[in-house]
Amino acid sequence: MKTLTEFIIEEQAKYPSASGNLTRLLNDLGIAAKFVNREVNRAGLTNVMGYNDEVNVQGEAQKKLDVYANEQFIAALRSGGECCAIASEEDEKIIAFDNDVSQSGKYVVAIDPLDGSSNIESNVSIGTVFSVYRRLSMVGKGRVEDLLQKGTEIVAAGYIIYGSSTMLVYTTGRGVNGFTLDPSVGLFIRSHPDMKYPEAGTIYSINESNSIYFPEAIREYLKYCHADDPETNRPYITRYIGSMVADFHRNLIKGGIFLYPGTMKNPSGKLRLLYECNPMAFIAEQAGGKASHGFGRILEIQPTDIHQRSPFFAGPTYMVEKIEEYMKEFSPDFGK
Ligand code: AHG
Ligand code: MN
Ligand code: MN
Repeated sequence: MKTLTEFIIEEQAKYPSASGNLTRLLNDLGIAAKFVNREVNRAGLTNVMGYNDEVNVQGEAQKKLDVYANEQFIAALRSGGECCAIASEEDEKIIAFDNDVSQSGKYVVAIDPLDGSSNIESNVSIGTVFSVYRRLSMVGKGRVEDLLQKGTEIVAAGYIIYGSSTMLVYTTGRGVNGFTLDPSVGLFIRSHPDMKYPEAGTIYSINESNSIYFPEAIREYLKYCHADDPETNRPYITRYIGSMVADFHRNLIKGGIFLYPGTMKNPSGKLRLLYECNPMAFIAEQAGGKASHGFGRILEIQPTDIHQRSPFFAGPTYMVEKIEEYMKEFSPDFGK
């Protein structure tokens, strides 16, 4: 039995030159996750459910739990001192800490504090997504440029799923490990070592109600998913929760592709590159899969805005490659 804290300390020990800053940062995120987990679990009992009458930078109604989760992760990172700046879904601009300790933090974090928050009232799984980068600026407050790095520069990425049990899944670029929270003792215990996509996936997860607005390639791909072909286990199975973390997590475990394409109305889709697509793309690759925007690797996109969006396809390699084939064949100019 190994706890999250033990595991990350052991991982650090493999690098004698490591200073321990990343270890502390990951530990801080794990602690904040426990506070968020407690509130998520009590959501039906307290008055944290429902809207708080504010609108976030995406123009969406913010939920109280969104705000709570945002505050918890920011507070944990601020007091930890390893992170000098944060880009959060809930804040229009980056949060650059101005206290002396945090200003010397070597890392920056991009975070979706609560993913799938429309599912809170119906007691459906929600999550948190994060990625960690080394800052580029040398001194002073963190800058927006520190966060506008390609996903290939990610140092660590992970998600927390508040589901039938709560799990933290993360990678530092050497495989993916999953830890399940034992609520009786408040510890994340390693339960899913070296997570890999199964070879044969049969699940596809997409909001099919948008079909009419999808590029032809995606409409054709859906026909492929629906077709009868026992050799490739088709028709595939539809599963869609509407919480990216939960949909991605199930597909990682059971084998399946998660799709959030661009549409005629929104060619860049809905999901945000920095704190939704990139961390999940990094995890997908580390789990032996792929993550694409339809024409190439998500992690190679050069971000220009902390809230920019991207079409997103992640899953087992052959399933993502099939999407890329379809995009090339049927919609080569889509979004260009
Ligand atoms: P968030 O709650 O952080 O705004 O994210 C919601 C996202 C993501 O979790 C999910 O995959 C997607 O929205 C669902 O969108 P649709 O309702 O358009 O399917
Ligand atoms: Mn989200
Ligand atoms: Mn969110």
